[in-house]
Amino acid sequence: MTFSHTTNKEKHVPLTAIIHDWMRQLIDVPLQLQDAVAQYRSPLNVQSLVPFAENVGAFKSVFEKYELQHRIYFARKANKCISYAMHAAELGEGLDTASFEELAQCLEAGIDPAQLISTAAVKSSRLLELAVEHHVTIIIDNLDELDLLEKVVQRTGKNANISLRVGGFEVNGTTLHTRFGFSLTEAQKLILDHIAHHPMLSYVGLHFHLNGYSIPERAAAIGQCIELIDALQEQNVQTLHLDIGGGYLVNYLNDQSEWEYFHSELKKAILEGRQELTYRNDPLGMVKIENKLYGEPKVYPYYNEVNKDGFLEKILISHVDGYDAPIYQLLRDRKIEVRIEPGRSLLDQTGMTVARVAFRKHDAAGNLLVGLEMNRTQMKSSSADFLLDPIHLPQQIEEAADLSSKEQSVLGYLVGAYCLEQEFILLRKIKFNGVPAVGDLMVFVNTAGYMMHFFESQAHQFALAENVFYTEKAFSIDR
Ligand SMILES: Cc1ncc(COP(=O)(O)O)c(C=O)c1O
Repeated sequence: MTFSHTTNKEKHVPLTAIIHDWMRQLIDVPLQLQDAVAQYRSPLNVQSLVPFAENVGAFKSVFEKYELQHRIYFARKANKCISYAMHAAELGEGLDTASFEELAQCLEAGIDPAQLISTAAVKSSRLLELAVEHHVTIIIDNLDELDLLEKVVQRTGKNANISLRVGGFEVNGTTLHTRFGFSLTEAQKLILDHIAHHPMLSYVGLHFHLNGYSIPERAAAIGQCIELIDALQEQNVQTLHLDIGGGYLVNYLNDQSEWEYFHSELKKAILEGRQELTYRNDPLGMVKIENKLYGEPKVYPYYNEVNKDGFLEKILISHVDGYDAPIYQLLRDRKIEVRIEPGRSLLDQTGMTVARVAFRKHDAAGNLLVGLEMNRTQMKSSSADFLLDPIHLPQQIEEAADLSSKEQSVLGYLVGAYCLEQEFILLRKIKFNGVPAVGDLMVFVNTAGYMMHFFESQAHQFALAENVFYTEKAFSIDR
């Protein structure tokens, strides 16, 4: 069988991923990965706690630099493995739990309830009972939730600590839209008129989580929370914590110019000015009307010069309307513990998804399709595509060396096991150093944050992927 589709005429548009040393070692000597996939089946999520601890440390050092009381609550919705939750607790940090199951699992693992918070978007009485029983701080989003909590505390006779989720901040004359939380005015009234006098509820803090990745919006939100905190203090109601949520940008790419080139070439391709870059010229969320393109690709911003701890620092050193001092000083002066809930950013570089090549074929248009033993819910982005080049690991290493020396590169697409025409693992056209062979591995790096688990499903009754952690040159199943 021959698979022609050479790159000769097509200018390749790479998106080269940053790769942590632990992954690099496994990729450079792939025998271990091949054995692991043979043992645990394809796809396999391979992870490491080393970068997780590094990421925690990086955030911590920013708080320490500005002498802020703080706690980092890992948003464990971004990855279901209990190993991360346990490691966050071992490092003295906390966990943001978003469901009964996430909370119960942390408690069963023996994590101190003082290190847990519940931010679940929907809180059943079962969840509230569990949180109250263990004295886990509950972030209240709406009045019905508060009402239910009051019933739970009365029924159980146990007190509860609550923070209020706030939203609808004013930025440059417009209200930041959200479906979550109370407005600042509603929150003030609720705390002063009701919660502060409640015999069984203790108000401990404010919380927000903003969509998107704007530093000025986060700074404005903090400034407006500080105004509320001051107004409450004037009425002798003390705020112990301000939780500023998650959303710290991650940098996935080595090179800004690749990111910019990808955007310009994608637009060119959609307007038919070059060969397609995405399957059947998928515009990744842009809209084409009468040969004009509108909007930008609806994808995560994979290249970010300011990211993770740097992003947090930029928020903390911002100035806000009505105050002379930077945010860190406003918070420090008020002795407020700053809390953050990073998900994606703590998982930067902690995981990769490895899948086995099952088949090669051509589609009706002659495109090379490489079928993987996985489905697209096992590595799925909430945005239009996951834009990092996968790494092809041939089974025969000599063969790989041979192929690259002859530069027989080919272009093709990766497809998965669900029975849909749209079942593409990546929409982007991928360049391979030679046609992948059955049994080769395809490695997707930096997938631990949301990509592995957030959308995974079991249609066709496929088993979910195993999760292993790589420590001391061996793999062990998530504990
Ligand atoms: C309330 C809350 N906290 C934290 C996070 C984590 O956000 P990220 O993974 O972007 O840091 C989310 C994400 O949806 C969230 O809804």
